[in-house]
Amino acid sequence: MTTLWSGRFDGAPDPDAFEFGASFRFDRRLFDEDVTGSIAWARALGRAGVLPLAEADQIEITLKQILERGRSDPQFVAGDDEDIHSFVERVLVERIGDAGRRLHTGRSRNEQVSLDLRLYLMRHIPLLQRGIAGVIAALVEQAASAGDALMPAFTHFRAAQPVLVAHFFLAHVAALRRDHERLAGARSDADALTLGSGAIAGTSYPIDVVRLAGDLGFSRVVANSIDAVADRDFAASFQFACAMTMVHLSRLAEDFIILCGEGHHFFELSDALSTGSSMMPQKKNPDPLELLRGKTGRSIGHLMALLTTMKGLPSGYNKDLQEDKEAIFDAEDTLAGCLATVRAVISGLTLDRERAARAASGMLLATDVADYLVRRGLPFRRAHEVVGGLVRKLVAEEREFDSLSMKEWRAVHDLFGDDIASHVTPAASVAAKRTPQSTAPAAVQLALADTRAWLAGLK
Ligand code: ARG
Repeated sequence: MTTLWSGRFDGAPDPDAFEFGASFRFDRRLFDEDVTGSIAWARALGRAGVLPLAEADQIEITLKQILERGRSDPQFVAGDDEDIHSFVERVLVERIGDAGRRLHTGRSRNEQVSLDLRLYLMRHIPLLQRGIAGVIAALVEQAASAGDALMPAFTHFRAAQPVLVAHFFLAHVAALRRDHERLAGARSDADALTLGSGAIAGTSYPIDVVRLAGDLGFSRVVANSIDAVADRDFAASFQFACAMTMVHLSRLAEDFIILCGEGHHFFELSDALSTGSSMMPQKKNPDPLELLRGKTGRSIGHLMALLTTMKGLPSGYNKDLQEDKEAIFDAEDTLAGCLATVRAVISGLTLDRERAARAASGMLLATDVADYLVRRGLPFRRAHEVVGGLVRKLVAEEREFDSLSMKEWRAVHDLFGDDIASHVTPAASVAAKRTPQSTAPAAVQLALADTRAWLAGLK
């Protein structure tokens, strides 16, 4: 058992208590960032004249070898160390003795663990953003191949108005583009160098923190050392960005669970992404979408757990903060897995144009009938009443708008003219929309083009 603080104590720590407090089991995932941070710290100590340059070089060279070793052989990052910081320092000292013992000069694990996590998120958030872009690309493909296909849109989960199927796919794109942006915001929250904060009061060595920030790819330095060692706002931002994305994926999953099911069946899930029943031979279940919907609870839980951990802490570092890491790694893995699954599910969908279009017709056109009267001068509230009465009659007689003769239309209101039939179709309904965010075919084309340009502009 190796600790960085044994000098203070008479005997060895209680093994169970040590195991309880140790984080190496999970923070080994920060190996790359921890070594990277230490290389930059050694260089900064050399530049500040705290270490002879030759010694700083020796530390740097050895840390680079350790980094290579750990990258090529993950099994190497192991031992009974307390945490990743202790592991790296132990291996360094094993290799170069006293020079290694000088690395931690003026530095604390309190700032170091925050640095590692910030670096980790800055490196890994772009991978999640790529996963989101992959889902968006799959949605765009579906939107494009849907062309002018129609389906009903729902409010209160009752058929509301006809929309283009492409518009429906692009609705999910709009939410995911916000998630992409939110993750960029979380990355920018993480983007601040904590080194130079020491354990809480700062460091008494003349470290050029601005230069050190630049070396590590940070665009700024934290403002206050007391705040810096306990600040996990960036972790909460990340958890919120993940949870929000999961909420959007979960709603998307719910849409397709329902719209692929017997009740609607506008879409068909690919067999490869469905599962069967052990008992009922006819079943084709949307398990991957259900599991994703279930995992959303975990992701939301991680955000709540972190906020709850933070809320009662006094200023400065407290060990409670060690709880941030497992949740971050799990949120990342969960989201990455769900994004890959959703991408595959969306790519494998087939649209039943006939069925979807049929469901987009009928009483869903009542608003368009009212709009017709409004364009001929009737106040909207009056038109709503007139069409409401007509709907009541048609429902009672089990008829649709398109069964009405011209005489019957006129009996309802004399503003109805010969052209009424041409206004009361799903295609006419979408074509009549006039705003850029609407389902008007031209607006949807522009939205599609805009998303394609956005995807092409991503690095
Ligand atoms: N394992 C610790 C964590 O994850 C590292 C910081 C430890 N600092 C301390 N004073 N015990 O937060």
